[in-house]
Amino acid sequence: MIHIGPSLLAADFSRLAEEIGDIEKGGADFLHLDLMDGHFVPNLTFGVSLVAALRRHTALVFDAHLMVEHPETYIDALAAAGVQYVTVHQEACPHLDRVLQQIREKGMKCGAALNPATPVSTLECVASYLDMILIMSVNPGFGGQQFIPYTVAKVGDAAELLENAGNTAAVIEVDGGITADTIGHVTAAGATWLVAGSAVFGRADRAAAIAALKA
Ligand code: DX5
Ligand code: ZN
Repeated sequence: MIHIGPSLLAADFSRLAEEIGDIEKGGADFLHLDLMDGHFVPNLTFGVSLVAALRRHTALVFDAHLMVEHPETYIDALAAAGVQYVTVHQEACPHLDRVLQQIREKGMKCGAALNPATPVSTLECVASYLDMILIMSVNPGFGGQQFIPYTVAKVGDAAELLENAGNTAAVIEVDGGITADTIGHVTAAGATWLVAGSAVFGRADRAAAIAALKA
């Protein structure tokens, strides 16, 4: 079952509530929210107060992708803002186990994200209790980049890791450069949650863009 989550990063930031309404009507399955701090990645987006304000305008599942240092300091506020999924980067968490527990204790689903060059084996110890593995198929920080082909094999590695851990409930999400051309490679390898920024918000007809990805 394929889930498409448009990334708000590619929306018109001067009309966010309208943009979200448009993709919700257009068949989006969740909303992907890229929080960047200008330190973990060389770009800055928005913080939790914006997420909280948007929560009042949509019923879509909120999927927060934290590209920040010290993600543990954001968890309580994200829970209060009504976020359902929180994904932290393995590379940003020397205490990954603790942060994942913190997310779960707040009643949210926990995910771990991997940069393109970080192997899936780094998640082996936490594989049994992750709700999501996020495979980055571009280097995080910016929308509209080219899909990196070697990350397809990592989707397969993630599927194998979860299977070996007996974790059948967890989902594999892929983020970066997802288009109608690249999506088939990652879904064939086992991904079911697909983030698409420019491929959805970059097109005038968002319903058609989402339908094209699902097809
Ligand atoms: C990149 C972000 C992505 C980005 C994807 O750092 O994590 O979510 O918005 O944008 P596209 O789909 O345009 O590559
Ligand atoms: Zn993202």
